[in-house]
Amino acid sequence: MIAVINQKGGVGKTTTAINLAHALALSGRQVLALDLDPQGHLGTGLGVTGKSTRGMDDVLLNGDSIDELVVSTRSTGNGRLDVVPAGSGLANMEHLAEGGAQRGMRLKTALKNVKCEYDSVIIDCPPSAGLLAMNALFAAGELIIPVSSDFLALQSLSSFMTTLQFVEKTSGRSMGKHIVMTRYQKQRRLAREVRDSLQQHFPDQLTKTSIRENVALAESPSYGESIFEYQVASHGADDYRQLATELTTERWH
Ligand SMILES: Nc1ncnc2c1ncn2[C@@H]1O[C@H](COP(=O)(O)OP(=O)(O)OP(=O)(O)O)[C@@H](O)[C@H]1O
Ligand SMILES: [Mg+2]
Repeated sequence: MIAVINQKGGVGKTTTAINLAHALALSGRQVLALDLDPQGHLGTGLGVTGKSTRGMDDVLLNGDSIDELVVSTRSTGNGRLDVVPAGSGLANMEHLAEGGAQRGMRLKTALKNVKCEYDSVIIDCPPSAGLLAMNALFAAGELIIPVSSDFLALQSLSSFMTTLQFVEKTSGRSMGKHIVMTRYQKQRRLAREVRDSLQQHFPDQLTKTSIRENVALAESPSYGESIFEYQVASHGADDYRQLATELTTERWH
């Protein structure tokens, strides 16, 4: 269970969730990608569209089973990429008043009941620290934390790390944390400084792979394609393939 999470907006969470999920499927894994952001960009970015689409809103608000809502999008040799889109009512989850502390456990419970076997479940989170993000944190064993290469990124990362410490303390377990630099431009001094600073503060969490700035990564979602479909010969495809290898061989338990 892997959550792609950072309460800061626009840092590359959805781009990372989409392309990492497809990279893992292409390497022969059975992958399930869940859209936990009411914006619904993971679903549309992977070509799952349609107004009537039901999704994670039904799972979290009505207790429907994930199996019923899975959309099979790609099968690649041995691998497979299934998606559950956000659904049009997902934003209501943030205003859910009833249910007490158990409200944060709904995703974890739903995932326990999934019958289909998956090697990896990737959760795309919204840019907030509300109930949706809490559900992802309580369900996930591994966190991928994308960080963009700007100055404010560092400041918001340290406040996010404090949130994580709180969750780890309340839930009595620790999560694998993997910080990934996104939109990296080596020629920019600021980007190198941000990387050096991350290296200094989070030497064990920072991945060796950084995702470079690549226009094809920004273009591909409007075609409902991952980078491996839209432009397989690109820095974006190379970087996400390398990130998938680093995570699976060196970092994930
Ligand atoms: N490596 C990259 N190179 C170029 N553009 C990128 C890259 N990564 C992300 N982008 C672009 O940056 C913008 C924000 O990325 P993305 O939507 O993945 O961030 P996010 O963290 O999911 O945002 P939100 O917090 O709104 O959910 C998008 O327009 C995306 O196409
Ligand atoms: Mg997003």
